[in-house]
Amino acid sequence: MTLWVGRTTEELAPEVWAFLRAEDAELLPYDIEGTLLHAERLHAADILDDAELAEVRSALARVGEPDAAAEDVHSHLEAELGDVGRKIHAGRSRNDQVATAVRLYVRDACAEAEAGLAGLAAAILEHAEREAGTAMPGYTHLQRAQAVTVGHHLHAWAEMLERDRARFRFAAEQAGPSPLGAGALAGSTLPLPPPPNPMRNSLDAVADRDFVLDYLYAAAVLFTHLSRVGEELVLWTTREFAFARLPENASTGSSMMPQKLNPDVAELARGKAGTAIGRLTGLLAVVKGLPLAYDRDLQEDKPPLFAARKDVAGALPALTILVAGLEFDRERLAQAASDPLLLATDAAEELVREGVPFRDAHERVAASVRDGTYTPPDALSRLGDVTAAVAAAKERWGC
Ligand code: ARG
Repeated sequence: MTLWVGRTTEELAPEVWAFLRAEDAELLPYDIEGTLLHAERLHAADILDDAELAEVRSALARVGEPDAAAEDVHSHLEAELGDVGRKIHAGRSRNDQVATAVRLYVRDACAEAEAGLAGLAAAILEHAEREAGTAMPGYTHLQRAQAVTVGHHLHAWAEMLERDRARFRFAAEQAGPSPLGAGALAGSTLPLPPPPNPMRNSLDAVADRDFVLDYLYAAAVLFTHLSRVGEELVLWTTREFAFARLPENASTGSSMMPQKLNPDVAELARGKAGTAIGRLTGLLAVVKGLPLAYDRDLQEDKPPLFAARKDVAGALPALTILVAGLEFDRERLAQAASDPLLLATDAAEELVREGVPFRDAHERVAASVRDGTYTPPDALSRLGDVTAAVAAAKERWGC
């Protein structure tokens, strides 16, 4: 069913229909929620009586999945409401309707991301606590640099995720205000009460998709972090590093090489970062240059949004299982961390304490490394204790 049958006398060409149709069935529960809020406003304005509001409520509870006959989920919903559906669109347009539904969707997607992040952070912090005293080489330029602990390194991962949580919370907050009442772009003459927390400008209310961009940005940065974590997991579980072993319930075998155990979960999380970044840049390009208020271009916000939510909801629990099942090889880590060269900076600082200018100390230690006379100071005396930082992080994550 089209909602604008009065305007045209000709049927749409099937090719045009197929091109215009939105793949937006995922919005249905959110459109139902938004429609209920709108029905309550119509009731408050005496446009729907008590019986009609009750009918809307019970019809909304029975709405079935949209099929190919609907132009989009909104047309489907109105058709499903039957007779009372003919009244429901008073004072609203699909423009404020879709903006409302997408906002509710983004808020849910953010809450889901937050729950997934909490699971992964808990798995990371548990290892961080257990390995707070396990020395490992720290790296810059992927060259051994200075000794750190596994706890110290894993705490850094958790810090990255905590900023991701803040970004998803920000996106949810941005999606908070309600566009209901904006109508097509200029409101309506009907005496509808404003929704709680209304948007301040009706043109902006139907044209704004910043909150979708905020979600896609949060997802892009999250995946960028997961790609860095994923890369380290790939490296650490190689025979070359051998700092940790992969759990069998989160790694794959090879179809040809019987000995292989592959870190596919970490690799796919790393790979999905590229796609996540593409979704953000793609929607930025869609919105760029669009004149106010609504334009059909905005229908293009949905595929990247739905796909990003699916990837976030898929990657976080899978990585949680992988991380939770990691087994650190303490012996191997201790051996790698006992490389005396990791203490070269400490050796230079020891000279500084004796009054040698740092640049001279640096040159003296570098020369001793070159000519083979280098001797390290007290091994590992500088390792920081992250126990308190990890405990504080656990508290912030509620784990
Ligand atoms: N399916 C459309 C979207 O996703 C809904 C709004 C259509 N509005 C319109 N005036 N054609 O943006």
